[in-house]
Amino acid sequence: MQTILVTGGAGFIGANFILLARRLQWANIVNLDKLTYASNLENLAEVQADKNYNFIQGDIANFELVTYLLEQYHPDAIINFAAESHVDRSIFSPQEFIQTNVVGTFQLLEASRFYWHKLSFEQQKKFRFLHISTDEVYGSLTPQEQAFREDMPYAPNSPYAASKAASDHFVRAYYHTYGLPTLTTNCSNNYGPMQFPEKLIPLIILNAIDSKPLPIYGDGQNIRDWLYVIDHCQAIYLVLKQGKTGETYNIGGMNEQSNVKVVEKICAILDELVPQPNFHYSSLITFVQDRPGHDRRYAINCHKLSHELGWQPQENFDSGLIKTVKWYLNNISWVNQVRSGSYQKWLKQNYENR
Ligand code: NAD
Ligand code: TYD
Repeated sequence: MQTILVTGGAGFIGANFILLARRLQWANIVNLDKLTYASNLENLAEVQADKNYNFIQGDIANFELVTYLLEQYHPDAIINFAAESHVDRSIFSPQEFIQTNVVGTFQLLEASRFYWHKLSFEQQKKFRFLHISTDEVYGSLTPQEQAFREDMPYAPNSPYAASKAASDHFVRAYYHTYGLPTLTTNCSNNYGPMQFPEKLIPLIILNAIDSKPLPIYGDGQNIRDWLYVIDHCQAIYLVLKQGKTGETYNIGGMNEQSNVKVVEKICAILDELVPQPNFHYSSLITFVQDRPGHDRRYAINCHKLSHELGWQPQENFDSGLIKTVKWYLNNISWVNQVRSGSYQKWLKQNYENR
């Protein structure tokens, strides 16, 4: 079986990927994660005792550590999930985004390049460096504009998007300059189990079950294309196995929703699952001051992925959202652990003066 070095595997998408990879026997996994506020080792409890899973706490920007891990575990592929991932935090403190997303990805590429050079010709041909990126690098669409295609120019608008765009460019450059067999995926907004509740969907679920205000930025008509996280993980594995090196692949849910619609849907699900005698959850909706530079609309054209590699999402938004709400309701110990002091500090910083 192959070995994959996964970075950022204690976060939302990385953890979902690792659990799936071990359940479906895709590969042995080595997980390098710095364990920032967004991570949670409880996400990986299921594989903790698995002898084909190894966890190392560390930073992708630590060249020596990454070099050591590559020599030690000899992976056939690297999947780089590690990132600072929240737009609002990038507005308050962009520095960490440059450090991990740009410098970190660069150091990981450097270590990978030296490792790859030392492989046999056959191993070099098989090796893959898969970089996980976002649709936000393409900027913002008007309601009339065509969905993002892989050949569209980058136009990042937030420090988060700019840092991801920079990392994507380095990945591209390492393919063209050094021949490192890289691949990049640009995915739309994910949702599902184990997402840190700073992002819209889990934040709304948790606030609602606490009967707290449900904050919607601006007029709530900003549009995102939502994809269930397991569909994203399946697409990543497909690109790893069958994608053409040097290429980028867009991944999206073909599921554009305004923020107001998303929040109303969550409220309707909660009205069914945990009805309140005195109010509907939607009465908690509160419009708050907009995010600076808030992108109006994202939409992904994933024709390339579906036509060249045959990928289709399996989950629809209604079924995926019900599963997600139920996961948070059924995992209250996870929720309570995540709602620690530092999360409360974040809520204060982001919402108190809106
Ligand atoms: P997340 O914030 O939930 O998790 C990120 C993980 O990376 C955490 O476990 C954290 O500890 C780790 N990490 C951060 N800095 C690190 C460093 N320097 N070294 C090692 N580990 C580090 O993020 P996510 O939502 O799981 O996103 C994963 C990747 O997917 C990111 O690259 C993100 O840009 C991309 N992406 C996310 C979405 C989404 O909707 N969440 C959509 C498209 C693309
Ligand atoms: P988010 O989950 O932060 O993802 P991204 O900014 O990467 O798309 O936000 C999704 C959308 O929801 C985005 O348009 C901002 C909006 N939003 C709110 O309206 N209220 C909130 O409290 C948050 C966190 C996000």
